[in-house]
Amino acid sequence: MKIFSAVLLVGWFTCTLCAYDTGFEKLYESNNHEIEDYPLIFNDTLPSWLRGTYIKNGLGRFEVGHRRFVNAFDTFAKLSSWKFPGNGSCFFSTKFVYSDFYNKSIATNDIYPDPILVGVDPPFTQKQKFAALTRRIDNMNVNIYRYYNAETKEQEYVILNDCWKLYRVEPKTLTTLQAVDAEIPEQEFEYKNVMSSAHPVPEPGTTNHIEYVTSMSLIPGIKHKVQVIRIKSTNDREQIAVFNVDELRYMHSFAVTKNYAVFFQSPYKINLEKLFMTAEAFKALEYSNTDPIEVYMVELKTGKVTHMQTENGLLMHFINAYETDNSEIITDAPVYTNINMINITMIDILHNATERNKFDVRAWLTRFIIDLKTNTIKIKKFFNSTHLPTASRIDMPTINENYRFKEYCYVYGIAKKIDDVNFGRYALAKKDLCGNTTDLVWYVENVVPTEAWFVPRPNGTSEDDGVLLSMIFDGVKLQNSLILVDPKTMKTISAAVLPIRNPATTHGRFFSDLF
Ligand SMILES: *[C@@H]1O[C@H](CO)[C@@H](O)[C@H](O)[C@H]1NC(C)=O
Ligand SMILES: *[C@@H]1O[C@H](CO)[C@@H](O)[C@H](O)[C@H]1NC(C)=O
Ligand SMILES: *[C@@H]1O[C@H](CO)[C@@H](O)[C@H](O)[C@H]1NC(C)=O
Ligand SMILES: *[C@@H]1O[C@H](CO)[C@@H](O)[C@H](O)[C@H]1NC(C)=O
Ligand SMILES: *[C@@H]1O[C@H](CO)[C@@H](O)[C@H](O)[C@H]1NC(C)=O
Ligand SMILES: *[C@@H]1O[C@H](CO)[C@@H](O)[C@H](O)[C@H]1NC(C)=O
Ligand SMILES: *[C@@H]1O[C@H](CO)[C@@H](O)[C@H](O)[C@H]1NC(C)=O
Ligand SMILES: *[C@@H]1O[C@H](CO)[C@@H](O)[C@H](O)[C@H]1NC(C)=O
Ligand SMILES: [Fe+2]
Repeated sequence: MKIFSAVLLVGWFTCTLCAYDTGFEKLYESNNHEIEDYPLIFNDTLPSWLRGTYIKNGLGRFEVGHRRFVNAFDTFAKLSSWKFPGNGSCFFSTKFVYSDFYNKSIATNDIYPDPILVGVDPPFTQKQKFAALTRRIDNMNVNIYRYYNAETKEQEYVILNDCWKLYRVEPKTLTTLQAVDAEIPEQEFEYKNVMSSAHPVPEPGTTNHIEYVTSMSLIPGIKHKVQVIRIKSTNDREQIAVFNVDELRYMHSFAVTKNYAVFFQSPYKINLEKLFMTAEAFKALEYSNTDPIEVYMVELKTGKVTHMQTENGLLMHFINAYETDNSEIITDAPVYTNINMINITMIDILHNATERNKFDVRAWLTRFIIDLKTNTIKIKKFFNSTHLPTASRIDMPTINENYRFKEYCYVYGIAKKIDDVNFGRYALAKKDLCGNTTDLVWYVENVVPTEAWFVPRPNGTSEDDGVLLSMIFDGVKLQNSLILVDPKTMKTISAAVLPIRNPATTHGRFFSDLF
């Protein structure tokens, strides 16, 4: 144990003959079983205050009939949930999302030629691919969220992908309800809406959420545009602002503060010529290692847009954002310096250790400080100021949500390839952004943690007073567990083995009033 701690401080010990990511391939293999309310047995007591339901979106099925997906992003969505009624019990459920895409595929025993990011093996015909271009992505495998409908006073649970369309679900049974394709405010015929975010953000002080939709201009000479949208309920949306852009860029998430929404457009561009030539979205995406990030800051009350730029990088997940008394916006995000974290999602690469280990997939925690007086952006990089580099290379971030839009210190996330050798060697880390040396790492050999959720203790006395929930995969035993981790020490408090093996998951949320 002493040796292990020493290793933690100086770096990751690696021997060439050891396997550190045994069983990793299984995360990208189907599990078609479904389960409802299976009682889990924890090996230690649960905190008496832990009450609510944790729901995660993820991947479930990788092939139908003789055809398989080739990219993990395209695989069929499957939800998992853990219900904590607050009496020491926990009930696990997992079910497929019964989307149109899923239903038609199962009914025909073949993958239905709907629009997807990469493709299938054997491939669709050119005719099928072009026909798919006219439809929308239907597979909501990225996130789960909840909107409040002030008119009906109902909570509406929705599952999302990087597109405008979404599905409603019933959260207690994980039953798929209907698809929702809300009307886009101010939509004009010469535009086709392309992308949106699977990471809407609450609008501070309201029950609304902020979202955006990118619209492609179909007429040469007319610019593309990004509309900033206020979500009042699943079906009710209004436009806050609109700005024109020269290039269509992929944007996964954005930052929101009390008064602003800030959009960082990384130079990950959609080449329209290629899109219309190949009818394959992935082939049409081009990343520039040199172009700056275009930043658009939108005032929520007035819709005023300010354009800025900052240095090259690929941003996926904003962690948090807040305004300071000093007229600044502070926002933090992991930044990638190349496109590898997208390219490694090819299933054949994920299945082959030699191939996946070739990828540098490290994220670098970065702070962007926007000076509202000068409209300029300063950058602070966390990765060189720490005694524990793994903690500054995390993505899939979670924070104590009571600190959203406020000054905060702690972020928890997943670090991959922690030894810079084995891609599948993951850790769950805590990073102290306030500069104190309290960074910590949760790590078990051959065990893959997934995105965690921080549940604050009611009446907690510090930002890290609560528990972290994370589903883990043990690649030796080929089994999943849900673990509770103490955020103060990053040690396991209690664990329960799940009745089935779960493929890789994406994002999730805990709903404290749902049980
Ligand atoms: C806890 O509550 C759930 C739901 O009300 C119930 O099904 C379960 O039996 C209870 N467990 C215990 C140990 O009381
Ligand atoms: C898919 O089929 C299931 C029944 O198998 C049905 O309950 C569900 O509503 C269908 N989904 C859609 C989007 O029609
Ligand atoms: C990433 O994948 C795309 C699509 O296969 C390919 O065109 C591109 O060259 C790859 N980029 C890198 C840096 O490997
Ligand atoms: C994995 O990829 C390597 C090339 O990088 C290849 O030599 C090897 O045969 C592949 N392994 C499998 C099981 O396909
Ligand atoms: C941070 O450290 C790395 C390696 O230790 C070095 O290559 C890089 O230049 C440093 N970056 C900054 C901004 O100091
Ligand atoms: C960091 O250390 C300083 C000085 O000891 C202290 O004032 C501050 O509260 C600490 N911050 C956190 C988040 O622990
Ligand atoms: C939290 O504090 C409030 C008032 O201070 C009290 O009413 C409530 O019971 C406390 N909740 C818990 C779970 O301790
Ligand atoms: C519970 O299981 C976890 C994970 O397997 C383990 O780390 C922990 O030590 C176990 N706790 C007890 C009390 O057995
Ligand atoms: Fe995401």
